Amino acid sequence: MNVAEILATYDDKAPLNEAYTIPAPWYVDARIAELERLTVFSKTWQVIGRVDQVEKPGQFVTGNVAGEPLVVVRGNDGVLRAFYNVCRHHAAAVVTEPCGMASILHCPYHGWNYGLDGSLKGMPEFEGVKCFERKDNGLVPVKVDTWETLVFINLDPNSVSLRDFLGGLVKRAAPLELAKLHYFATQTYEIHCNWKVFVDNYLDGGYHVPHLHKGLNSVLDYKQYTIENEDRYCLQSSPMVASDEDAATGNTRRGDRAWYFWQYPNFMFNCYEGYMDTNLVIPIDVDHCRVVFDFYFSDVSEAARTYNEQSVAVGNRVQDEDLGICEAVQRGLKSRAYGAGRLSARREAGEQLFHQLLAADLKAGTRSF
Ligand code: FES
Ligand SMILES: [Fe+2]
Repeated sequence: MNVAEILATYDDKAPLNEAYTIPAPWYVDARIAELERLTVFSKTWQVIGRVDQVEKPGQFVTGNVAGEPLVVVRGNDGVLRAFYNVCRHHAAAVVTEPCGMASILHCPYHGWNYGLDGSLKGMPEFEGVKCFERKDNGLVPVKVDTWETLVFINLDPNSVSLRDFLGGLVKRAAPLELAKLHYFATQTYEIHCNWKVFVDNYLDGGYHVPHLHKGLNSVLDYKQYTIENEDRYCLQSSPMVASDEDAATGNTRRGDRAWYFWQYPNFMFNCYEGYMDTNLVIPIDVDHCRVVFDFYFSDVSEAARTYNEQSVAVGNRVQDEDLGICEAVQRGLKSRAYGAGRLSARREAGEQLFHQLLAADLKAGTRSF
């Protein structure tokens, strides 16, 4: 089958109670992964760092989106800018640290220097080179914006604004006052599955929670779990119940409600009282992804450290429970026994929204080539 034929095997118009998942080849065919790189990850707003990493002039954070090396840096004028982290001389990475502080962006290869605004400031031993304009050889800019604690970039110069991309999410998440939380720790997972398997697992409306996450299940009122789809986000939410079944979970997952937000295509954040973790799902290749968890708390003082570490450990346990399943699913998707699956009408509306948005982008993308 060619790519257009593979895409045509998914019906994105079916109502939820008649719908199938996207078919197995979407998760295992490298041509689909490449199409996603070009039409999804190169065109949507992608999280690249945290606002607290680029608060002061000279602070920078580097990252990679759709295979492109990028750097975000706060200028001396206070403006946040993003660039391709690619030297205009012979393409070396100019900034080589994951994050930090600099007064100038200095390429380690032949010593070209760029200002924090991306402009080329100086090149050793370049006298006598003809038809070379310094002003035309600054770092190539990329769109950047922030929302709450997060820095986003977009490789598409013609994209909608970040606010328009996030749509109703901005208002829906506003009461949680995420910007008041403080970053505490990062945990990274390398998973042997397609990035969409991880997202699907997240978006099954709690369907797997009683079976796979017994500890987490003990603090959720599972029957009252709600699923809301709007624009490009899905909010799964559940009232919380007191439980002494699992002390660590009961102790660290508190408040009236659990809030689980997903923003298309690959970003989630999960909130309890005084707590948030963000999950960024980065495709590595068609059957590997990396998931970066950042943990935030309302109190990150030394006195709260032990509690916060216990809370992170509870998060890690839930992830470990998910990892094995995600890898088993990826193996199953390659089996000749599987084509596509049905969706629980009660639970899996978020998953359908994900598949519909993805199908729209991939189909539009193939038309534009
Ligand atoms: S590649 Fe950067 S100075 Fe040569
Ligand atoms: Fe899970």
